[in-house]
Amino acid sequence: MMRKKVLLMGKSGGGKTSMRSIIFANYSAKDTRRLGATMDVEQSYVRFLGNLILNLWDCGGQEAFMESYFATQKDNIFKNVEVLIYVFDIQSQEVDKDLHYYQSCLESILQHSCNAKIFCLIHKMDLISEEMRTTIFTERENILQDLSKPLQCSCFRTSIYDETLYRAWSQIVYQLVPNVKGLEKTLENFAEIIDADEILLFEKATFLVISHCTRKEHRDSHRFEKISDIIKQFKLSCSKLAAAFQSMEVRNSTFACFIELCTPNTYVMVVISDPTISSEVTLMNIRSARKVFE
Ligand code: GTP
Repeated sequence: MMRKKVLLMGKSGGGKTSMRSIIFANYSAKDTRRLGATMDVEQSYVRFLGNLILNLWDCGGQEAFMESYFATQKDNIFKNVEVLIYVFDIQSQEVDKDLHYYQSCLESILQHSCNAKIFCLIHKMDLISEEMRTTIFTERENILQDLSKPLQCSCFRTSIYDETLYRAWSQIVYQLVPNVKGLEKTLENFAEIIDADEILLFEKATFLVISHCTRKEHRDSHRFEKISDIIKQFKLSCSKLAAAFQSMEVRNSTFACFIELCTPNTYVMVVISDPTISSEVTLMNIRSARKVFE
C-alpha cells in the first residue's frame, strides 16, 4: 500500500475545502457555500486505486494558522510532502500578502521535501469576465513561476463551476499514480485489439481521468475534463434517486461510447466508430479485459 501526502494551502476563503469536497466527497458546487472555515489542519485519507492512498492535508488559511505552520508546526506539516497544491483566490485584495505566504511555504518545502511537485491553482476564475481570463491567468502564471525558482510550479486556472477543476486535479493525480506508463501501454494494446478510437480510464469515486489512449484525433482538447464533470453530475443525480450509477452507452449515427466498471476502483470509457462492431461484442471485450487491468 502506498500512502502519498498532499498539502492543500492558500488563504482563508480561497476555495480549498470546496474543491476537496467536490472532487472527493460528492459535494455539488452549490453545497460548498455552506462550508465553514477549516480550523487548523483537516486530514483525510482517500483510497485512490487499489494500492494508492492519498493523504490530503487541508490547511486552514486564516492568518493565525498560517503563522503556526511556519513556526511550531513546520516539521510536521512540511515533511514527506509529495505534492503541494497552493490555491490563489483571483478576487483577493491582498496579492502581496498571498505571495509572501506562498514564498514562505516554498522555503519550508525546499527544506523538508525538496522533491515535492508544486501546483498553483489560480482559482475562482468564473468571477473574471471571459475575455480577460487568459490575460490575467498568464500574468499570474509568470509571476508565480518567477517567484518559485529554483523550484518549478505548474499553474492552472480553476473554478468549481466548470470543468477546469477536473482538468487541474486530473493532472495532479496523474503525477501520483504509480506505473502510469505501464497503464498507458496496456490501454494502447487494448484499443488496438478492439479497434477503438479512444479509451479513457477513470478513477471510480472521483471520476478523474488517470490514463488514456487516443487513436483518432479529436478537435475538442477539453473533452476529458468535460466528461469527468458531466458523469460526476450524473452520478450525483442518480444518488438523489437512491440509484447507483453502473454503466452507460451513448450512440449516434457516427459512433458508440461505452462507460463500464473496469476494476473495483476504475471505470473505462471506450469510443468506437466502426458501425459493424456491435455493442454486445464491445461489452464482451471490455469484460474480458478486466483482469488485465487488475
Ligand atoms: P479556509 O478553510 O478558511 O482556509 O477556507 P477555504 O480555502 O477552505 O475556502 P472554502 O472552500 O471554505 O470556500 C469559501 C467560499 O468560496 C465558499 O463559499 C465557496 O462556495 C466559494 N468558492 C469556492 N470555490 C469557488 C469558485 O471557483 N468560484 C466562486 N465564485 N466561489 C468559490
